[in-house]
Amino acid sequence: MSGLHSCLGNRFNSTYNCLLLKQLLNASPFYYWWVIIMKIKVELDDRDFLEVETDGSGLNVSMLGCTEFMEMMQKMKRHFGVDIRKWPLPEGTDHSSILLREMVLKLRGEWIFPISENLVCKCRAISARVIDQVVIAGAHTTDSVTKQTSASSACGTCRPDVQKIIDYRIHSKLG
Ligand code: FES
Repeated sequence: MSGLHSCLGNRFNSTYNCLLLKQLLNASPFYYWWVIIMKIKVELDDRDFLEVETDGSGLNVSMLGCTEFMEMMQKMKRHFGVDIRKWPLPEGTDHSSILLREMVLKLRGEWIFPISENLVCKCRAISARVIDQVVIAGAHTTDSVTKQTSASSACGTCRPDVQKIIDYRIHSKLG
């Protein structure tokens, strides 16, 4: 079991949070069914979150957020149905579109965040997540990221990585 768990974990961890590998044993001792349950969450801290749990077939969706975010989700559902995987990628640069774009790409296995290190700005000890959060919230230039987080305000060697995050979130709308 540990070998299979490891193998599946490697396969899904690159794009998904693999929440649980559940073994269902039916009546016969010779048959095992394996169900992968994945949980994906995208969020703007203290404002909006969208969480999808799936076993590969159906989607269990939870969300909470500002009026703009909730209205966008309702509108997309009305136009394209309940399966978020089949929704077109939103092209806006507002925080709601950015979050939904991340979710759609993650559900499709196409989310490739450009920075793998946790710590982007070593001088100021600013993480990729902190930078990413302010980009989602509206800081779309390196100067505005610096103003809000202090990243890139010393030696400046992290500035290209900050730009990569902005580019991925804002300019690479198709992933
Ligand atoms: S590493 Fe970010 S300012 Fe030096």
